[in-house]
This record gives sequence, structure tokens and C-alpha cells, in this order.
Amino acid sequence: MQYGYFDDDAREYVITRPDTPYPWINYLGSEDFYGLFSNTSGGYCFYRDARLLRLIRYRYNNVPTDSGGRYFYIRDSGDIWTPSWMPMKSALDRYECRHGMGYSRISSARNGLAFSQTSFVPLKDNCEIHKIVLANESKADKDVDVFSFIEFCLWNANDDMTNFQRNFSIGEVEVEAGGARIYHKTEYRERRNHYALWAVNVPVAGFDTDRQTFLGLYNGFDHPDAVFAGKANNSIASGWAPIGSHHIKAHLKPGESKSLVFVLGYCENPDDQKWEPSAEPGGRGSPPVKPGVINKAPANALLDKYGSPEAADRVLAALKDYWDALLSRFSVQAEDKRMARMAGVWNQYQCMVTFNMSRSASYFESGIGRGMGFRDSNQDLLGFVHLVPERARARILDIAATQFPDGSAYHQYQPLTKRGNNEVGSGFNDDPLWLICGVAAYIKETGDFGILDEKVPFDNKEELADSLFIHLKRSFDYTVKHTGPHGLPLIGRADWNDCLNLNCFSKTPGESFQTTANFESGIAESVLIAAIFVFNGPDYIEICRRTRRAEEAVYAAKAVASMIETIKAHGWDGNWFLRAYDAYGHKIGSHECEDGQIYIESNGFAVMAEIGLDDGRAQKALDSVKDKLDTKYGIVLQQPAYKEYHLELGEVSSYPPGYKENAGIFCHNNPWVTIAETKLGRGTRAFETYTKICPAYREDDSDLRRLEPYVYAQMVAGKDAPRFGEAKNSWLTGTAAWTFVSISQYILGVRPVFDGLLIDPCIPSGMKGFTVIRHFQSAVYRIAVDNSAGVEKGVKSVTLDGKPLDGAVLPALGDGKTHEVNVVMG
Ligand code: BGC
Ligand code: NOJ
Repeated sequence: MQYGYFDDDAREYVITRPDTPYPWINYLGSEDFYGLFSNTSGGYCFYRDARLLRLIRYRYNNVPTDSGGRYFYIRDSGDIWTPSWMPMKSALDRYECRHGMGYSRISSARNGLAFSQTSFVPLKDNCEIHKIVLANESKADKDVDVFSFIEFCLWNANDDMTNFQRNFSIGEVEVEAGGARIYHKTEYRERRNHYALWAVNVPVAGFDTDRQTFLGLYNGFDHPDAVFAGKANNSIASGWAPIGSHHIKAHLKPGESKSLVFVLGYCENPDDQKWEPSAEPGGRGSPPVKPGVINKAPANALLDKYGSPEAADRVLAALKDYWDALLSRFSVQAEDKRMARMAGVWNQYQCMVTFNMSRSASYFESGIGRGMGFRDSNQDLLGFVHLVPERARARILDIAATQFPDGSAYHQYQPLTKRGNNEVGSGFNDDPLWLICGVAAYIKETGDFGILDEKVPFDNKEELADSLFIHLKRSFDYTVKHTGPHGLPLIGRADWNDCLNLNCFSKTPGESFQTTANFESGIAESVLIAAIFVFNGPDYIEICRRTRRAEEAVYAAKAVASMIETIKAHGWDGNWFLRAYDAYGHKIGSHECEDGQIYIESNGFAVMAEIGLDDGRAQKALDSVKDKLDTKYGIVLQQPAYKEYHLELGEVSSYPPGYKENAGIFCHNNPWVTIAETKLGRGTRAFETYTKICPAYREDDSDLRRLEPYVYAQMVAGKDAPRFGEAKNSWLTGTAAWTFVSISQYILGVRPVFDGLLIDPCIPSGMKGFTVIRHFQSAVYRIAVDNSAGVEKGVKSVTLDGKPLDGAVLPALGDGKTHEVNVVMG
């Protein structure tokens, strides 16, 4: 069954009942300040780093689920309810939650009182705005009490949930304007120069800042004592759990409405301006300040700017304009609405979120664990680079700076410091190659070869800086130099599949498979890394040629050709590509194995890399994938699933069959098969693999799938799992970028190449045509594709502004104009 619908004109997903099969969330924020916002107003926000600078507390894996967020309680003539449904699970006469591009709106009503909450983060400042509108739809006057509620996090989200012996004694707040402005200032007295603001733009009847006083020690969020008493206590928190609650009284005549604007902000002061200036002289020559009173200047600035309903509306309009502009860079018109809305809107939106968040904060990632992944961030670029190329450029330089001089890389880095993360270290031997992949995508999109000349540190050390080109060369050489007995690349700790830990042999419960002191067998090899190498090879060679590095181009071409031969000689199992060799030199992903006979990754990637197109192996491999791994919900990672734990394989065999890397439908690698199918020209099959994991096609199956129908999930349980078809881990997954690449560049076939924009669609024969509007290097191309011939692949003719084009590559015209492109397939 469905729990909502797509409103395509508004670019919103409209959730029509609050009890979705799992919280369905949205992301607020664009650059530094972010909020996670569920359809019942749950979630939290943070400044830059979800672990270190978290403003409000959120208890993951709580009972009931998704408790905690920004809550509003209504008391209407003694009737107490929460308009976002949670936390009281109030019966509502109306409910709707619209998740849009960077904003959400919950609208509900009960007993003639309508409520709406529009929540968003402005483009430039560090705060959430919640605009509330109360409307009396009844025939009688109403006296309404509104209580706001947030619970402050003591900044470091990890420490906040563990270090109670300290934390219960350090909480501090300040209150101003009779309680309308609440400031959370824990640790500001010592080493912090930031505080949080929770303010409302109208006078209040009272406030609370102490959790126990507001809620009652043994109550949940669904029964706050203050609300049930109808009166705030003006409590000032001292230790324990500081909160922010305003009590507002509103009188509403029939038909009357009132707006309130709440601002939840992050405020920072320079160290020498931490305290409020005073008229009294300061002690011992220091500037005159009021001791212990925080300098409210940044808070006042936020409230001056945003503290009115008109300002809130203006900011929301600006946010909408921003997204209109972004999404105009690639849009699709097609008969298949589900594909058009996913490719044109939601998939790109998710790409922005993965670019911003990496794998840090979602309802499946706690925000306290992971930094930015080297491989993840490079892949995220692929789906983002057309939206804001300048940010992609900056990201590339950050990532490259965490590479070691030998080409290997820190697996993760911290976004606040941009430094490689020592706890995780390096040794994932696929990592270096993703840098070539990300940089090539950036150059094809922008034509900016100049980025190759940027001086970028190695290991974050300026003294080791060299050009970005040299970084690419080190990446390339790393693979060339680290090969095993068959000449295939050594896998190291793992390759793309973090769970193929072939040099780990972990016996200790709870030990991390990724960071445990691995030994290097010098034997375990990865066919996938070989295929990734061959896939990126031509781009690297082309970059060398175009930057007049002819010798390097020749060297690279030889290395790639020889890797192809190695794969054919030692990476082929007869009907599909092998996956790897373990530390004993035994095959993985072979018909000779008992379990794990065939894997998706090496097959998808090898064919994407065009290996075996010439000798029938490519087709054989993809036919085997279809035959052995395909299901109605997507392609599983391998078969048969491992039934027991294998010391020599690691985490892949630790999962129960059908989940995660052990034969789950690990969506990230499905688009590799989609792209591979387009290499064979099989448009119908390519589209089938695209739709199977695409959430919009499973909207009416939400009871089984459970997660948001507007975003991809990392995994859907595979056919070996009791919960086959159930999705987990939505939002922060490389699936977003790769599915966008697969649909936009390979199915619809509008693909940036070094010479311009190649038009090379590969679609189901039944698809009669489509239109893509694409901004590319300062020009706009309106590309209308006609497939009345009913083919799957092949371009018969292309005209550009009415004139026949030689070939199918649109030149980068860069003239700021819109150009009409007509493509006839046949
Ligand atoms: C997961 C992988 C993930 C890895 C690194 C494993 O438990 O199965 O998907 O990449 O952890 O955090
Ligand atoms: C999730 C990780 O973020 C990604 O880097 C990895 O490739 C996949 N899991 C597969 O293990």
C-alpha cells in the first residue's frame, strides 16, 4: 500500500499518514548547517560535524522509534495534542507531511484548529527556521496554548550519550526576553566559543529549560507535566538535561490565524568577544564585560534577519529558487513519470545529500562514526558534479590531500579538520583508483584541465605537495606496482566490498573487520580492482594525451592492455568473471566454490570496462548474472549466500544469508550492471535493472519495502533472507550517484566526454522517445530523442539548431544560449 504520493509540480513527496512503515525523513540545509527531519518532526541538527557540534539530542534505536525532535504541543480548551502526531500519537482530523527540496511542511488539524509547521535551513545562515501557523477553522473563539520543546545535546554527540558522570553537572542556559529567547551555553565558560539559540518571535507566557521540570522524571515526551498543567515553570537548568520550551498563549477568533517563527541557531563568537560588553570597567585591564553573560550579537543578528513570518517566507522562496536553478541543469520529460521524477528530481536531490553528508548522519548512520570516505566521496562526485562543479572541485582537492606519496590513501578523513583518519588508516587497495574516476568526471563536465596543475599536499603535508596530475599518476602506479601471483591487483584490507577481508582472519568477537591489524599475504588478489583499473584506464590515458604527456600515455596504455590480458587469463571462470583469490590463492566467485560462486561486482565492472565485448565473454557474464543473481527486487551481490563464517573471507560471510554483502541486493552495484547492459546494447534489460531497485517503482509496496519511496536505500534484503524485499539504510549510499550516472548518461545517454556531450541512448524498444534538458559548460541543450523506430540503441542522426551534426558529440558551445537538438534513433 501507499503512504503518500509524488506532487511533481511542487517537487514534493506528500506523506498522507503519519504512521509510515519507518520514519520517512528529509534533509534541511545546504552547506554548513544541516537538519534531519522526519515526517513526525523527529530528528536533530548540527553545524558542520554531526558528531562534534550537534545542537539537539537524538536517541537512536529508541522506543518508540524516532522519539525526539522539534516538538510543539497544543492545548486547546483542555484538549492536549501534538500536531506532528508524535510524540503523543494524537488522533488527527487531517495530516499531511510534504518533504520538498530542503524544506518540509507538516499540516494537521484537530477539533477545528489547523496547524502547519514549515521547517527549513536558510541558504546562508546556520539555523533551522520553523514557521508555525495556527488557524481557527471552527465557529467559536479559541484560547490556545502552544508549548515548544527541544532537548539540547551537550555538543559532542558521542560524549553526550556516554559520559554522564561529567555531563549531568555541566549543563547551563541563559534566558532573555521573558523566556522567548533561550540560550544553551554548556561549556561556553571554558573552551567553547559557541552556543545554541532557541527563540520565538512573540512574547511568551513562560518557559522551561530543565527537562525534569518540564516533563516529569518518569514521563515520556508524550506526557509533559508542564503541558498537562497548562503552565510553564520558568525553570533554569543547572546540570542534568537542559531543554528549551516556550509557552505561548494565542487567542483566535473564528477564521483567524496566527504565525509564529521559531529559530534554532548555532552562534559563534571570536574568542575575544565571547562575553557581553558592559558599561562597568573591566578588572585588571581586561575589556569591560558582564561576567558569565554570553555575547548575544550573533543570535541577535539571526533573529533580526529571520524572526518574522515575512522573512521566513522570503527565505523559503530563495531556497526554492536555488533548487529550481540546480535542477534545471538536468531535467527529463518522458511518458514514464516514475523515471522522469526520479532522474529529474529525487535522484539528484539525494546526490546532493550524499555529497554533503558522505556516510555520516542518517537514520541508519549515527553521525558519530564515520568521516568522509575516500572512495565514497569520489563516487558521490559522479552524481553531483553537474550541479555545483565548484564545490566538486574543492572536494577533489580535499580528498587528494589525504593520499599518501605512494598513491595509497587514508580510507577516511574528518570534515572539520580535513585530515586523514588514523583510526581507520589505509590499505583499501581500490581507493586510489576512485580519485582518477572522480577527477575524470569533473574534467569532462567542466573542461577544466587546469585542476591538474593545482598543487595538492600528500598526507596533508604541504612540504610533500605536488600537482593533482602527479596524484593521479601515483594512483595509477599504485595498482600497477601492487600485484599478486597472477598479476592481478592485491586486495589489501578490502576493495569496494568492505567485507571481503581476505587478509584479516579475525577470530575475536566485535573486532572491526576493516581496521583489525591485517597482515599482507601478498597473495590475495581482486579481479574487481583489475576491472576498475581497466575502466579508468582510458580516461587516464586521454588526460595524459590532452596534457601533452605522450610517453605517460603510451606507458599507461600498455599497462591497461596487459591488465586486460591478465583478467582474461586469470580472472575468468568459464561463464563469468571471478571475484578474487584468497590468501591461500584459492578462487572466490568460481563454480568451483561451494558458496559465493558468482559475484555481481567483478562482472558488472568488467563489462562496464568493456572487457570481453570482443569475444563474447561480456554477454556470457551478464547472462550469468541474470540467470544466477537476479530477483524481482534487484540483483543480489553473490550466490549462493555463505551459510557459515569463513575465517579467510571475513565480514562478507558474517552476515546472515540475504543481508548486506552476503547476498543482499546491495543497490550500489546494480547500476554497474545497468551500464554494462548498455555496453551490449540491451536497452530493455538495462532499464529493467534500473527500475527494479528504483524506489518510485515500489511506492505501492511500501509495507514490504518500508523505506522512503523517493530515495534509494543501500540494501534490499535478498532472496535468502526471511524479509526478502525489505530495504534498509536509505539516503547515504553510493547508489544515488551510480544510478544517476546509469540513467542520465547510459540509458538516456546524455554523457559528458572530453570533447563535449555525447548522445548515446540505450532504452527499451518500447520507449518512443524522451526529452532531456541539460546545462553543459555555460550552454543549454534541449535534446529531443525520437525512437519511433523502436530500437534499443543506435543514433541515426543528430541535428543541432536544425543543422545536421557529424557524429553524436555536441560541442561545448559555452554561449549561454539554449540550443535545440534533435536525435533520431535507428
Ligand atoms: C558494512 C559495509 C561498510 C563497512 C564499513 C560493514 O559492516 O557491511 O557496508 O562499508 O562496514 O563501515
Ligand atoms: C558501504 C561503504 O560506504 C562503501 O564504501 C562500500 O563500498 C560498500 N559499503 C560496500 O561494502
